[in-house]
Amino acid sequence: MISIQKGNYNMKRSQLETEINKRKTFAIISHPDAGKTTLTEKILFLSGAIRSAGTVKSRKSEKFATSDWMEMEKQRGISITSSVMQFTYDGYNINILDTPGHQDFSEDTYRTLMAVDSVVMIIDAAKGVEAQTKKLFKVCSDRGIPIFTFINKMDRQGRDPYELLEDIEEVLGIQSFPMNWPIGMGTTFQGVYDRNGHKIHLYNEQKEHQTYTLENEDFTSHTLKELIDPDQLFELQETISLLNEAGDSMDLEAIKQGKQTPVFFGSAISSFGIPAFMEHFLELAPEPQGRESNNGYIAPSELDFSGIVFKIQANMNPAHRDRIAFMRICSGTFKKGMDAWNDRTQKSVKLAQGQQFFAASRGNIDEAYPGDIVGLYDPGLYQIGDTLCGTKDTFSYGKLPQFPPEHFAKVRAKNAMKQKHFYKGVAQLSEEGAIQVYKTAAMEETIIGVVGVLQFEVFESRLKNEYGVVLEIQPLPHTCARWISNDQSLKIESTNYKAYDQQGNPLIIFENDFALRWFQNKNPDIELYEKR
Ligand code: G4P
Repeated sequence: MISIQKGNYNMKRSQLETEINKRKTFAIISHPDAGKTTLTEKILFLSGAIRSAGTVKSRKSEKFATSDWMEMEKQRGISITSSVMQFTYDGYNINILDTPGHQDFSEDTYRTLMAVDSVVMIIDAAKGVEAQTKKLFKVCSDRGIPIFTFINKMDRQGRDPYELLEDIEEVLGIQSFPMNWPIGMGTTFQGVYDRNGHKIHLYNEQKEHQTYTLENEDFTSHTLKELIDPDQLFELQETISLLNEAGDSMDLEAIKQGKQTPVFFGSAISSFGIPAFMEHFLELAPEPQGRESNNGYIAPSELDFSGIVFKIQANMNPAHRDRIAFMRICSGTFKKGMDAWNDRTQKSVKLAQGQQFFAASRGNIDEAYPGDIVGLYDPGLYQIGDTLCGTKDTFSYGKLPQFPPEHFAKVRAKNAMKQKHFYKGVAQLSEEGAIQVYKTAAMEETIIGVVGVLQFEVFESRLKNEYGVVLEIQPLPHTCARWISNDQSLKIESTNYKAYDQQGNPLIIFENDFALRWFQNKNPDIELYEKR
């Protein structure tokens, strides 16, 4: 009797492990214009998930990238709301979590990076590591997740490849391992040499890329000399032997810990280097990983289901006015209709419908596994950071970090008759984590705080389109907010605001760092907290 149960148990676990090993969940990060949309489209195209990779140019005029689905994104040709794309590639189930590529970003971006197992970082060969990439990289490296680098636009004249690698090492503080090496650049770009596969991938503008396999790293063959300019071939040979002898070797453990990044050179626009990149990426990127909980480490192969809500999005489909909670499955199997325990509310919920995403389109699913992102219909049951478990009172993954806002604005509805809709919209967007909302102590005015200024525009546009409220936004010069434990008889400078957050906790919004330090010096007994 017991052995039968054990047998079944093992079979289930091995099936679950097979599913886990088939999955890759990652995000693509970059500075605007480095080529994130282009690369994403090409990967989707190569996977067969889309029939034509609409060029970015046409996206910016009237056709749009598959991952852009909000009105503002369409107008601006940028991706604002992190969306999810699920498809199969070479037998793997891929979950790409899209992160905004624009200058400003929100908490949404940060939290999305909490839900992935690895990251693809795109760098423009002409620009090297840019500001936005640095910020996003920091969030990833703090978590110690593997980072794969794609240096894009090799078909254009860019910076010296050595210099680009130095840039990655110095600016980001991570070791780099070039997986391939470019042969020329811009007008002289002839292709790349794949160091592990010992292959030369030849580039041509007509996109008919050919591959040539080298025996014993012999660069002197007759055929090769006919294919590649002899001077460039000689230089390549020298570089490769230098890299082999003096360069760092590939260190799988360091890659796993995010201490070494495999680097690939390519040209996304012409699909050049992408199949080879994907081949290595799928081989090296980790399968869905486990997580720490308040009851120890939970492996994805634990049979008991668990998931974490990392994003909430309302009105994804304006026709239905719905709200979706995005859950990453962390362990076990998700089954449609299953009961799950929400640790925060201490209530059981029926996961009646789960949805999978292909950017804007969705489909119902019956089963999903660790690494998968499932959209749950949310009539107000979930909050960001909620843990859902198959069994009552087992564990919780703990809250996702909340990032302190850096920009503030006073907001109100232009039309006083729209007050009710205004408050509804503000509360909704605050629950989604898109904005933080405060009420000033003196006048009860509404102040919103955001991580990136573009969120103000997103906020304005969403209130108008989804709640019919035209806003009056008055940006404030203030730059930081600090929670205080007790606001009794507290005197503050008139340039700062005393306010309350949505839960009624007191805080001070300071005009700048100087004002913050001034306050601290004058009130050494008052504790200030950056996070609530
Ligand atoms: P993003 O999502 O990271 O913001 O970048 P996106 O893919 O939109 O690409 C930004 C621009 O770079 C696009 O040009 C795109 O065609 C171009 N691009 C992407 N990959 C490559 C590449 O491998 N080589 C070259 N030469 N260009 C590439 P655009 O905005 O349509 O026009 P323009 O900026 O070129 O005028």
